[in-house]
Amino acid sequence: MAKKNIKNIKKDFPIFKNVKVHGKAFIYLDSGATSQKPKMVVEAEANWYKKHNSNIHRGAYQLAEEATELFESTRSKVASFIKSKSHENIVFTKGTTDGINLVAQSWVKHNLKRGDTILISEMEHHSNIVPWQLLAKEKGFKLKFWPVTSDGKLDMTNMNSLFREVKFLSLIHVSNVLGTINPVEEIIKKAHRKNIKVLIDAAQSVPHRPIDVSKMDPDFLVFSSHKMLGPTGIGALYIKPARHKEVRPYQSGGDMILEVKQQGSTFKPVPGIFEAGTPALAQVFAFGKAIDYLNSVGMQNVLRHEKSLVQYAYQKLSAIPEVTIYGPKPANRSGLVSFTVKGIHAHDLATFLDKEGVAIRAGHHCAMPLHHKLKIDATARASFYIYNTKQDVDKLAKALQLILKQWQSSINK
Ligand SMILES: Cc1ncc(COP(=O)(O)O)c(C=O)c1O
Repeated sequence: MAKKNIKNIKKDFPIFKNVKVHGKAFIYLDSGATSQKPKMVVEAEANWYKKHNSNIHRGAYQLAEEATELFESTRSKVASFIKSKSHENIVFTKGTTDGINLVAQSWVKHNLKRGDTILISEMEHHSNIVPWQLLAKEKGFKLKFWPVTSDGKLDMTNMNSLFREVKFLSLIHVSNVLGTINPVEEIIKKAHRKNIKVLIDAAQSVPHRPIDVSKMDPDFLVFSSHKMLGPTGIGALYIKPARHKEVRPYQSGGDMILEVKQQGSTFKPVPGIFEAGTPALAQVFAFGKAIDYLNSVGMQNVLRHEKSLVQYAYQKLSAIPEVTIYGPKPANRSGLVSFTVKGIHAHDLATFLDKEGVAIRAGHHCAMPLHHKLKIDATARASFYIYNTKQDVDKLAKALQLILKQWQSSINK
């Protein structure tokens, strides 16, 4: 695919042509929740049914063999996108949440003992909290929270005592609220020295920056296609080869077996053991096209573009006296800004902004414990992706100024 210039790609996304909000141009600043899709991804899903549809791993006819080849070549695309040495380390899941639940039920459940500790951080998404709470209760594991500092970073001051008795660490790479980029490579190295196995929730990092699992060395890493230009209902789990033989089946049924007898069954190795039943074929195919698209832009360019947008947004928003921004300074944050505006609840803010055509997220962003820690019930979040421009940020800042003006004049009436 020809290289794309990031400055000129909004036109590849049909939604920006098709949608007007309250008669205004649609400014989408909620890619942290889900990304928009380029035309080639939208078309790929339909093309699967028009040109390729048949089940995989079973038919002996030409179309079925081609379908299997397309499915497996997408696995290889995902592997090279995150620099996995082999496609065999990549399991297709329904997304990040599914991947975390899979690791909880198929590895952690069987490799930890009653009384062992699972460590997660105070900045986790609910997807990386609730599965561990349920598992800890069921199996008698302890659940410990890694504290977050007042400037929104992991407290790295006393890692020896933090890691004591910990057998498993499940950690967010990039915070979906604070934009904090956790130093996962350094943390994984330290954890492995203490024989702690590590899962990385890469839902907010794989879509936005180059990822190299061979350097990062996590035991498990999970992400979702829908946050990286691909369809919903599909995602990937990377499993390091050293963990392959330690897993048990998660779900069972067709296609994950080697042999089934009345007395019992044997199972395929990773990844096949985790892909019971007919997978989301059209979605996998379109996920591959999303990866092609991102590769044609270049992940270093994606990162550079978002850095410049977040820097600009930080500067614009912090110039408004009523705005408080949460998390690290722009040099150390990913492409999102969560903030509050004095006197206006985040939900009211989102409703006002929508009237101006600007879509942001408001609420706890599936991170209630983090909001409790920050002593706020809700924040507004603007999150950026490759199709956003500085003009989009200008529209957000202008709309905020307008809202504040209207709000203040309504109070003074
Ligand atoms: C950091 C993080 N983890 C997990 C998830 C859950 O992802 P999904 O809903 O695709 O399973 C999200 C989604 O917002 C997220 O931001």
